[in-house]
Order: sequence, then C-alpha cells, then structure tokens
Amino acid sequence: MDYNNQSLEMGLTTTQAPFIERARENGDLYIVQPYDLYSLENHEAWRRLFARMQERWIQFANEHFLEGIASLSLDPNQVPRLSDVNRFLEPLTHFKAKPVSGYVPAFKFFDCLRNREFPTTITIRRSDQLDYLPEPDIFHDIAGHVPMHTDPAFADALVRFGDCAHTAADIVGSISDEAQQVRQLTSIITAMARFFWFTVEFGLMNSKDGLKVYGSGLLSSFGEIAHSIESPKVQRFPIQLEWVINQSFEIDHFQPLLFYVDSFDHLFELVDELEKWMKAGKLDNVAPGEPGVNAGDLRSFLHR
Ligand SMILES: [Fe+2]
Repeated sequence: MDYNNQSLEMGLTTTQAPFIERARENGDLYIVQPYDLYSLENHEAWRRLFARMQERWIQFANEHFLEGIASLSLDPNQVPRLSDVNRFLEPLTHFKAKPVSGYVPAFKFFDCLRNREFPTTITIRRSDQLDYLPEPDIFHDIAGHVPMHTDPAFADALVRFGDCAHTAADIVGSISDEAQQVRQLTSIITAMARFFWFTVEFGLMNSKDGLKVYGSGLLSSFGEIAHSIESPKVQRFPIQLEWVINQSFEIDHFQPLLFYVDSFDHLFELVDELEKWMKAGKLDNVAPGEPGVNAGDLRSFLHR
C-alpha cells in the first residue's frame, strides 16, 4: 500500500499518527493495520515495554495469562502484526484482534466481544513516555488483553458480557418515554462499565499462591501491577456484584480498591447474575458518579 511521506515520517505514535487522523476524518472505525508505517521508534517502544514487563508478569500475573502470552509467540522486539497474533489466537478460542481507529461506542464494543472480536488500538505510546498513557495503545491491548482471550473460560465470560449489551438494548427499546429511556440506559451502561472495569481491566484472582492479576489495565502497567498486589494502600476484597455496580472509579491514578474472583467460571457466573439483575430492574438506579456515559454510547444502544 502507498502512504504519503508525512505518514511514513510520523509513524503510528499515540495521538500523533496522521494515518489515524485521516481514518477518523473519513469515519472509518474498523481499519487495517498499516504495518509499514511503524517507525523504528515505535518498535523500540514495544521492545522496552515488553522487556521490562517480563519479570513482573512472572511474579504477579495469573497462570492463564502466562500460558496465553506464551501461546501467542509475540516478538519481543517488534510491534506485533495482528494477523500473526490472530493466527495463534483463533484456533484456541475463535477470538481475534480487530484493528480500530479509536474509541468504539459502548454497544458496538460489547457486540464485538459477543462476536469474539476484540477492538484493538494499533498506535503505540512514545518510547520516552512508557508510563504515561492517557489512552489505550497496542501494548495495552495486545500484551494486556489478548493473552487472556486464549483462555476458553475467560473468552466465554467476555462473550456472555456481550450478550448483556443486547439484553440492555432490548429492555430500553421497549420504553416509550424518551427521557425515561435515556435515564435507565445511562444507569445500565454505567453498571456495565463499572463491572468491566473492576474485572476485565483491573481484576485480581485468588490462587494457591495468593492473589494474582488478570485485569489488563494492571497487566500492561509496570508500576501498577506490583502496586496492586503489594501496596498496603490498596483495598482488596472478594468481588460483590452489588458493590461493583455502585462503585465509581477514576482512571488517572493507581486504583485504591480492587476486587478478586475465584476463577473464570466464577466470573462467568457473575456476568450471568448481572444480566438477571438487569432484567429485574436492579441496574436502573445505580449510584451516580464515574464513569460518564456519552451521547455516542447512548446512541449506540438506541440505534444498534
Ligand atoms: Fe483495556
């Protein structure tokens, strides 16, 4: 494929990639991974991020992640090609990484999970800002999330979570009063986002060797993965659905409160329970607070 000189010079660095800006201007959410555009600096960022996480993963990650990352055969020195990742991933759970140009509205995101597709960021942070990450990048998505998708029980829980988005859309679709519809949907999306945050992004798991990490936000953070397990400043509790759906969170600092599950079968049961609660109206008035639900998220459910 031909790219203009600006794209070749700029690479695929987070917030600085002309290729991504053009895709967004054109309204292209699902894109190809223009692999030739990665600069030497982009590959260097991957190499450094990957190298320093190795010993932390061995020390703090749950065994399913360690098996998963081994089975993906990621190159420690190069930004991965999604097609290579998928060649190893798809035979295991039929999941695949799907390149996107940016934020995927909530319903579309959950619906992708239901179809065993994981919307994947293709840009990478700057090599001199390894810790600074205001938005997801390919290291977070491929090294943090995708290894978990190799595990059949975890993959099934994600698919089940995608089902819940359809249940939510069905429920609010039957409400005729528009204000009521938006109010109820905002509460349900907030509950779902909090559940996702405290499990898929920041979840811990019990094991015979103590608490281990399975949340991708922790698995992709050099500082926070150790902090999550070792710091006395973190409260760690057995997960309770009624707590999680009513608990707000902030994204710009290390998490002071984390929840642990016993297994991915346990996680799956919780997703089942979440859907039952949704049907029973128990997600319609969750505690206010973060995360915010934007107009695009609401539209994605109302006009699926
Ligand atoms: Fe994430």
